[in-house]
Parts: sequence; C-alpha cells; structure tokens
Amino acid sequence: MAIQNIFVVGAGLMGSGIAQTAITSGYNVVLNDQRQEALERAKMGIENRLQHMVSKGTMSEEELKACMARLTIDSRMTAAKDADLVVEAIFEDLDAKRSVFETLEKICKPHTIFASNTSSISLTALGAATKRPERVVGMHFFSPVPKMKLVEVVFGLRTAQDVLDDVQEVGRRMGKTMILAKDKPGFIVNRALLPMLNEAVEILDEDIGTVEDVDEGMKLGCNHPMGPLELADMIGLDILLQVMQVFYEDLGDTKYRPSHLLRKMVTAGYLGRKSGAGFYLYENGTSMGVNPVLTREHSLGQKD
Ligand SMILES: NC(=O)c1ccc[n+]([C@@H]2O[C@H](COP(=O)([O-])OP(=O)(O)OC[C@H]3O[C@@H](n4cnc5c(N)ncnc54)[C@H](O)[C@@H]3O)[C@@H](O)[C@H]2O)c1
Repeated sequence: MAIQNIFVVGAGLMGSGIAQTAITSGYNVVLNDQRQEALERAKMGIENRLQHMVSKGTMSEEELKACMARLTIDSRMTAAKDADLVVEAIFEDLDAKRSVFETLEKICKPHTIFASNTSSISLTALGAATKRPERVVGMHFFSPVPKMKLVEVVFGLRTAQDVLDDVQEVGRRMGKTMILAKDKPGFIVNRALLPMLNEAVEILDEDIGTVEDVDEGMKLGCNHPMGPLELADMIGLDILLQVMQVFYEDLGDTKYRPSHLLRKMVTAGYLGRKSGAGFYLYENGTSMGVNPVLTREHSLGQKD
C-alpha cells in the first residue's frame, strides 16, 4: 500500500520529531495533540529547526516552504480520517494509548495502519484493544528523531506481514535503518541498554565509584559517547524507573530490579535534565557538575 498521509498523535518531544522527519521525507502530516499550546510549540520548533538548516545551507528556502505546507496541526481526532498511517506518540500509558486507538478506529479507514512509538508497552495488548490487531505495529523511533538513524519495528502476535513491509518502507523513505523485534518488554535496544543504566546507578549506590568515574569509565573503557549516568539524566530517571519496573514485573528476574538509589532519586524529585537535577545539576540544559547530595551519600558510604 502506498502511504502518503500520516497522522501523528502527541506533539511532544517524539511526536514533533516524527512529524518533522515525515514532512522532510515528502509525507503529508497532520500533527495532533489534545493541548493546542503543545501543537503551536511543536510547529514553531519544527519551523525553527528547518530554518536552521536553511541558514546552514542544507535546505533551501523553497524546500522549507514546501515542507511546512505539508504540515497541518489539528487538535481534533477526526482530522485522522484520511490517514494511511497513524503514529501514536502520547504518554507511556497503556490505557491512554488504548483509548486513542479505540477512538481512531471509528474515524480511520479500514486499511489505516496503527503504529505506536511505545518504548515498553506490548503491541499485542495494544492490538487486542482494536478490531484490527493485524494492522497494529510498533515504530520505535529514537531521540532526537531527525538525527537518530534507527527505527525498531516491533510486531505483535497478530501483526500482518504487509503492515511490517509498509512501515519499513516508510522508515526507509525517512532515511532510517530498521531492525525487527518481537513483542517482548524493551524490544532489542532498551532491553540491553536500560539494565546497563540501572546497573551503573547500582554501582554508584554501592560506592564502588563516583558519578564522574562511573561515566568516565564507560566513555573511555567502552567508547560510549555518553556516560550511563549522564544518559540516564537525559532519558529521565522517572522513565528509567518505570521501564525497569515493567521489566522486573514482566520478566520476573531480580536482575531487572530497579536500583534503590534510582527509586530514591525519583522520590526526591531528581528526574534528570528535565527537572534541573539528576545525577548532575543543570542550568539552561548545561551540566553544572555532580548533584552535591550524591557527594554526601558517597562520602558517608566510604566511612562505613
Ligand atoms: N523521550 C524519548 O526519548 C522516547 C524515545 C522513544 C520512545 N518514546 C516514547 O514516545 C512516546 C512519547 O514520548 P515523549 O517523550 O514524546 O512524550 P512527551 O511528554 O514529550 O509528549 C507527549 C504528548 O502527548 C500529548 N498527549 C497525551 N495524551 C494525548 C491524547 N490522548 N491525545 C493527543 N495527545 C495527547 C501530550 O499533550 C504531550 O504533548 C512515549 O510512548 C515514549 O515511551 C520516548
């Protein structure tokens, strides 16, 4: 099936990145959010980023205009009626995502594919909430979407092969590389990555090394571009905790148990970059050094 019209639900970090990547790849996009201000902010952000490309000479003024003409913002779900593909990127909440698909099912055409950008929710469960489980699939983009090359395409137990083929074609047209993953918590990338980040927090909690040394160790010893604690701050400590809880409950192995220090950080309101403090402190998005509460935790630990 030739996909031309994409309806993106959720105009946050991921939804606006997906919409931007889709319009620059020639798709017509309706970007939807229940909050009008989120839609306006997303549109302005997309235009500013494209304008930046014009100023760098990687896009012409005409191309920018053509891209922006392919983007519509609309807070009504009924605007999905002509969509060939829906990409859902709202909060990571099964009931909320189910409810979006239930609503869209009454509006969209029978051929419309329902893709979710979920990081951890079962596509089989999302599919079961609809009368079209064969047309429900995962398209797991990575942040920032316009830059990151990967899309994990996740198939639920009932996802049809032609749907997998069609979304892979969309991903290719967006310039992405696709990997295929079965519907199991964390799929491929997060199943490998998030337990490693959780283990880095555990290493800190056990006073094996300082915040800087844990990060430096993984950067210089494993050639990772960012340290695991820096990366945890970027992802959001609440998100890391939530996903580890899903792994622990679903996979039932203590190796997935969220680190005690991670739970304490989230309870204390240290959520990472977005809250201005996590393992590091941040001012206007710039790291200002290690969060001093951790230096105290560490030095007390050393006295034991
Ligand atoms: N942040 C990441 O790095 C990342 C990476 C990969 C996947 N994801 C997944 O992408 C999804 C979105 O994450 P995000 O970081 O962009 O979230 P976000 O909080 O930045 O944005 C979510 C948006 O969805 C809107 N929304 C909520 N309920 C809605 C509804 N019923 N209808 C329409 N709009 C609604 C909100 O108003 C908000 O603007 C989540 O499932 C997340 O797990 C996130």
